[in-house]
Amino acid sequence: MIEFKQINKSYSDGLVLSDINLTVNDGEFITFVGRSGVGKTTIFRLLIGEEKPDSGELIVNGCNVEKLTKSRIPYYRRKLGVVFQDFKLLSRKTVYENVAFTLVVSGASNKKIKELVPQAIGLVGLSGKENRFPHELSGGEQQRCAIARAIVHQPKILIADELTGDLDAIYSWEIMEILLRINKLGNTVLIATHDRDIVNRLNKRVITMENGKVAKDQAVGRYMI
Ligand SMILES: Nc1ncnc2c1ncn2[C@@H]1O[C@H](COP(=O)(O)OP(=O)(O)OP(=O)(O)O)[C@@H](O)[C@H]1O
Ligand SMILES: [Mg+2]
Repeated sequence: MIEFKQINKSYSDGLVLSDINLTVNDGEFITFVGRSGVGKTTIFRLLIGEEKPDSGELIVNGCNVEKLTKSRIPYYRRKLGVVFQDFKLLSRKTVYENVAFTLVVSGASNKKIKELVPQAIGLVGLSGKENRFPHELSGGEQQRCAIARAIVHQPKILIADELTGDLDAIYSWEIMEILLRINKLGNTVLIATHDRDIVNRLNKRVITMENGKVAKDQAVGRYMI
């Protein structure tokens, strides 16, 4: 479960999030929408511990994220899968190596790597392309690879910010189908998007942000901005 309790957050030039209260249950699929600059990415940055709130509590599976020390944050992040729009694949590594990389760095055994990497690559539909380099993939395939990398350690929560921004409609929906598949496996999925068609087609919970606040929170929502 994720709980935002009276979260306030400002940057140097003013308040961005004001009194955010939200509860996300395990296994939910939630889309954050709202005008550019409203604070969607900031919510995700708080969640991954990259930014701290000015006040309030942010509790993720019982862990007070705002209280984590810098040295604990890498361990905390292993519970999450994160894909940001500017995801960067390692250009000199293959699909397989890109996906395996975080496992290798975190000291996973070879046995674990051999089990988990093909699973993640299969889940995003990139089987057969393990040996390609990023420049040999389409934009959509690169995003799939970034998703595989984000989920390879089997996090219970996946956060995807503006993933489909530069893909056309068919490829965007294919990416959503992958996220829905990950959600069906019991994982929580949080996304932010400006894509009206995707939001309306998903038929999932939609949180609409306005003026730094949650303006609407609809269990089965539509894009209304
Ligand atoms: N590191 C930062 N320092 C100062 N201001 C920031 C920083 N990051 C974001 N902001 C400001 O905070 C506000 C919220 O930004 P945020 O990136 O969360 O918006 P967003 O809803 O994700 O927008 P978009 O839809 O364009 O991605 C914006 O006004 C932005 O300029
Ligand atoms: Mg953003």
